[in-house]
Amino acid sequence: MQGGPVSRGLEDVVVANSAITFIDGKGGRLIYRGYDIRDLAQHSTFEETCYLLWYGRLPKPQELEQLRSKLVGRREIPLGLERLLEAIPAKTSPMEMLRTGVSALSSFEPDDLKRPESSIGGALRLTAVLPTIIAAYHRLRQGKRPVAPRADLDHAANFLYMLTGEVANPSYVKALDVALILHADHEFNASTFSARVTASTLSDLYSAVTSAVGTLKGPLHGGANEEVMRMVHDIHSPEEVESYVTQKLARHEKIMGFGHRVYKVEDPRAAILREYAKRLAQESGDPKSFVILRNVEEVVHHEKGLYPNVDLFSGACYESMGIPMDLFTPVFAISRVSGWTAHILEQYSDNRIIRPASTYTGPTDLAYVPLAQR
Ligand code: ACO
Repeated sequence: MQGGPVSRGLEDVVVANSAITFIDGKGGRLIYRGYDIRDLAQHSTFEETCYLLWYGRLPKPQELEQLRSKLVGRREIPLGLERLLEAIPAKTSPMEMLRTGVSALSSFEPDDLKRPESSIGGALRLTAVLPTIIAAYHRLRQGKRPVAPRADLDHAANFLYMLTGEVANPSYVKALDVALILHADHEFNASTFSARVTASTLSDLYSAVTSAVGTLKGPLHGGANEEVMRMVHDIHSPEEVESYVTQKLARHEKIMGFGHRVYKVEDPRAAILREYAKRLAQESGDPKSFVILRNVEEVVHHEKGLYPNVDLFSGACYESMGIPMDLFTPVFAISRVSGWTAHILEQYSDNRIIRPASTYTGPTDLAYVPLAQR
């Protein structure tokens, strides 16, 4: 098309109705299927949140138990995929591996899991297996054997167990479970949108999730949590924060973990994770990273009026649990796969191919010059 206004980055463009997640950007509220994220973080579990996102309501006890056992039963990775993970060079970033891992997994799965009408089965499978793929790759790249999942451990606890082979401290498990709840969905964020675009062509769930993983990887989206902790380590001490941040801003560089397209006030997820980061820092007896982050928060707010987003404190929590920095974004994916798949299901249920337009700015009347005459 020619002419017409362009909304860069699709800002404020409404492309669909959705009954999954509501963000009140001015009130600083995040709602999954009607429930405030603060209530879910306090009372729910990641497994229950998955049920809520996929089925649209909270489960009865028996329904939750069934979902739990279905997730547990779908955690194993096929041997062929393990071989493939072994063959991936250890220098490959875990998000790069995960993009390949999800895509390759599809070849080992039964065909009926890939049909749009059986997507709930695919949603369960991908949500169950992502932690195993990530933990297995992490072990293999260190020259260690993968640790098999344990059926008696819940999702968060089992992931931490598969990383080390040891059952994690309950306060780490609780903090990770809450982080998984908080990251599970966020309306039409970039990775969810890319999942929906892929699903809208009636491509399969594995392809849609592969698109989403590739999109989450970028530093302006899921990759920000890792960048935040790189910044914390660059800063060295709380006294250096002010000069570090002001110099970065003077160079017009972004400070990761701040700003949001939708929230004009504090991201409610950041507030909850700040509390967990503080608690874990106190427990560890090493609050330096947390103090640096609090100082960064103060300086960025003073200089730019920006509030933290979900990525500011998540990395500090994961670091306290002993999760390596390059697994922070994969942990985001472990959670967000529940939201991606809920959105893919919603897209399939009322589909029209997503195909926006652009304003053409190039020429239209050039005369073709044969190759020999150029
Ligand atoms: N640091 C410094 N300045 C910022 C930041 C930041 N983190 N975020 C926004 N700004 C400034 C921009 O420079 C711009 O200023 P200008 O108008 O003077 O040029 C203004 O605020 C608007 O910023 P945009 O980048 O246009 O906002 P947009 O809505 O396109 O982007 C985004 C939102 C990507 C989150 C942005 O705030 C950003 O890059 N933040 C840092 C990366 C980050 O933390 N990403 C995680 C997002 S949450 C998530 O994915 C889970």
